[in-house]
Amino acid sequence: MSIHINAKQGDIAEVILLPGDPLRAKYIAENFLENVTCYNEVRNMFGYTGTYKGKRVSVQGTGMGVPSISIYTTELMEEYNVQKLIRVGTCGAIQKDVKVRDVILAQSASTDSKMNEIIFNGIDFAPTADFDLLLKAYNAGVNAGLNLKVGNIFTADMFYSEENQNEKLARYGVLAVEMESAALYTLAAKFGRKALSVLTVSDHIITGEVTTSEERQTTFNDMIVVALEAAIQ
Ligand code: HPA
Repeated sequence: MSIHINAKQGDIAEVILLPGDPLRAKYIAENFLENVTCYNEVRNMFGYTGTYKGKRVSVQGTGMGVPSISIYTTELMEEYNVQKLIRVGTCGAIQKDVKVRDVILAQSASTDSKMNEIIFNGIDFAPTADFDLLLKAYNAGVNAGLNLKVGNIFTADMFYSEENQNEKLARYGVLAVEMESAALYTLAAKFGRKALSVLTVSDHIITGEVTTSEERQTTFNDMIVVALEAAIQ
């Protein structure tokens, strides 16, 4: 048992999918996994373990933002020995050639979070995805015929920010904005584990385009298959 996860040793698989929304964790467990058990209900941040194509996989809600995902991923790695962590989430696009419903594999995650400044004290650490997971997810996405984009994303500390940095970030090639991946990549590096963020574009910050809830569901399902295939290979 850790502070925020009420699981016993061995309850959680070595490979885990990490949606922000705990109800998405429930949805993934119910619709994609077999032989499912729920290992965590603390704070309603549900966690489940089951099998996908015969391999053991867990799925854990992380909540929104750097502090929340940092708590769950630290406990998963430190207390439960989780080795491969794949975030499955949404993001807002900031490039014209990135469309809603595209799937982004976050090769790296820039951030305005203070987290890395605190850890590295003056050094600009570059939070980076695990290449092996990235390659496997890329191949799975290509096989599934998805519109994939791979590149740098931005992990923002504020959803409703005062200053608009998105134009500059877009000029520097950043694809999209979300709120968790830089923390996931930094903490995976700290513990010597593998991490990747797979993100669907739910809205376009520049053009204002949004997805319908039905479109979001379809793209979400496509993304889950990509993440699960990368997880078990
Ligand atoms: N900003 C931050 N995170 C997000 C957004 C956004 O516009 N869309 C989806 N996640």
